[in-house]
Amino acid sequence: MSLAHDLEALAVDIAQDAGELARTRRLEGVAIAATKSALADIVTLADREVEALIRARLAEARPEDGFLGEESGAERGSSEVTWVVDPIDGTVNYAYGSPQYAVSIAAVVGEPVAGRWEAISAAVYAPVSSELFRAARGGGAWLGEQRLTVNAEVSAAGGLLATGFGYDPATHAGDLARVARVMPMARDIRRGGAASLDFAYVASGRLDGYFERGLAPWDHAAGALLVTEAGGSFAFFPPPEGSDRPLTVASSPSIFERLVDAALDD
Ligand code: IPD
Repeated sequence: MSLAHDLEALAVDIAQDAGELARTRRLEGVAIAATKSALADIVTLADREVEALIRARLAEARPEDGFLGEESGAERGSSEVTWVVDPIDGTVNYAYGSPQYAVSIAAVVGEPVAGRWEAISAAVYAPVSSELFRAARGGGAWLGEQRLTVNAEVSAAGGLLATGFGYDPATHAGDLARVARVMPMARDIRRGGAASLDFAYVASGRLDGYFERGLAPWDHAAGALLVTEAGGSFAFFPPPEGSDRPLTVASSPSIFERLVDAALDD
């Protein structure tokens, strides 16, 4: 087995255990631990506990690797691998009792900086539906035993597209303007609330495309590999001067150029 396949298997194993812990904690009730970048940006006690589990399991299995997690920060490793982890992607859905949330784990090589790394292994696990999306570089993207491919053609009615909005109200006008520019090529727009699942849905043909300005590295690290291994297109555009909000776009190759043109505002 290649390194990518080995790390995929490890990511899958840990994501499933982490997802079960998140689901159990949700059934027991959710406590908001703090707000982060904005009032709407929350972290629950479960986010922290689930990330601690993932970090401990990775440290045990691969002590030499680096780590970059949403809740517990970054640590450089001595190997070429860094794990990029969102313990509960879709935290607001989770807090509200909506099933649209997932554990997202990626192994990347190279500089541990979004846009510069290369993702080699990924697991995105949605514990309520028990859906496990996984990918290894060169080995395809899979949902359970089913190999995934993005939609080759998009309906004449337009693409089924998804997006997301930042937590900071000051960014909402720009995000809404982006949706207005994309709308002419859409049959409809979805806002699922968990970026890793938006990417997984593009990979599996449940969506034709997804775009969002302002994703954090752990929101797209695993999902981007799912999309490219399913034959889709992905691009990361670094933030423009004076902003910390990169643009990420993923879609069927048939609409990618048009979607990027519409979504890019600078
Ligand atoms: C958020 C979700 C959401 C996206 C936000 C992300 P979190 O991640 O992925 O769909 O629109 O930009 O921050 O905070 O739930 O881990």
